[in-house]
Amino acid sequence: MTTISEFQVRKDTLSETRFTERTAPPLQDGDVLAKVDHFAFTANNVTYGVVGERIGYWKFFPADDGWGVIPVWGFADIVASNHPDIKIGERLYGYWPMASHLVMTPGNVKDQRLSDAAPHRAELPPVYNNYQRVNNEPGYDAAMDDDRMVLFPLYATSFCLYDFLKDNDWFGAAQIIIPSASSKTAIGTAYAIKGDEASPLLVGLTSPRNKTAVEALGLYDTVLTYDDIADVDANTPAVIVDMSGNGDVLSRLHKHLGENMRYTSNVGVTHFDANKMGPDFISERSAMFFAPSHIQKRAQDWGPGEFEKRAGAFWREAALKSRDWLKIQKETGDDAVKHAYDEVLSGKTPAEKAWVVGF
Ligand SMILES: NC(=O)c1ccc[n+]([C@@H]2O[C@H](COP(=O)([O-])OP(=O)(O)OC[C@H]3O[C@@H](n4cnc5c(N)ncnc54)[C@H](OP(=O)(O)O)[C@@H]3O)[C@@H](O)[C@H]2O)c1
Repeated sequence: MTTISEFQVRKDTLSETRFTERTAPPLQDGDVLAKVDHFAFTANNVTYGVVGERIGYWKFFPADDGWGVIPVWGFADIVASNHPDIKIGERLYGYWPMASHLVMTPGNVKDQRLSDAAPHRAELPPVYNNYQRVNNEPGYDAAMDDDRMVLFPLYATSFCLYDFLKDNDWFGAAQIIIPSASSKTAIGTAYAIKGDEASPLLVGLTSPRNKTAVEALGLYDTVLTYDDIADVDANTPAVIVDMSGNGDVLSRLHKHLGENMRYTSNVGVTHFDANKMGPDFISERSAMFFAPSHIQKRAQDWGPGEFEKRAGAFWREAALKSRDWLKIQKETGDDAVKHAYDEVLSGKTPAEKAWVVGF
């Protein structure tokens, strides 16, 4: 009998957490039991909790009333199988609960991928329901597992953002301003934009404690703190790619730029406790960005597999460059899971660090 340990959070008070244990149910025909090996935990996962109700992130791994399980990206190994084509020992990359195990109902099983066809996941975005069967991936390199857990979901979004901005002729902007410039999704976006010689200037906005680390990346043409918004060039048309969700920062930026604020892409909410938009926020030229929708659009535009090919090439190259600055802290056990969660939730993780943890 397998015991499933799970880390749960109060949906309405993310700082309240608990570990639960239950016996894994008997596998139905076609089901498999995956043992979660390790997973990354960054501000992106906190955001899943912050917008869990609105976007549906609590629906992936349902828990008891009032409690939720935050999804994470990582690897798991099949430890029991009632599926004819999936063997014990198979390794999957994808979207897991913060738990030791997951019972899955594989569907759409292909050589290199499968999906979890559990009925409660049917309406959720396919990007999150798909798992890579990494042992069948050409060129799979286990030495990049840690980089992949941390960076793939973020840099795939970065690739989408670059593709979206370019596709819209940069919204007529000559500068791209990125609040929460120290976040990995922002850094990936900066790698992608800098890789295009025709791209506008890049301005990174960050907190004073992260300014030196952001400058050291050498990716942004200018790095300013949130107190220096008056120093942003208001005479140059700008597009804002916002990772912060900070209402005060965005309102001040919009007021300062006025008509030159051409477009704001609301990507993230790293400053989730400051998310109320002020009176100067220009909502009519702002819109949410949701990477899974962009990926679905490109799957239709480009045909099957092409997005994965392009985003895969980008993330691998950017991940290798990121080894120059990224320090991954890898730990195992309940204490490690709780420590990573509390540290990231409170915003205390240094910009150049990322957690990889497991039960
Ligand atoms: N829309 C989409 O489809 C999509 C896809 C992927 C990611 N995202 C979003 O992008 C954002 C960045 O995610 P990430 O994993 O790349 O972040 P990350 O690397 O963990 O970001 C860390 C940075 O975020 C800021 N931060 C984090 N927690 C904070 C707190 N409690 N208080 C104040 N600042 C805090 C700090 O940056 P500064 O000091 O520079 O502000 C910190 O250096 C997330 O909100 C994520 O959900 C959105």
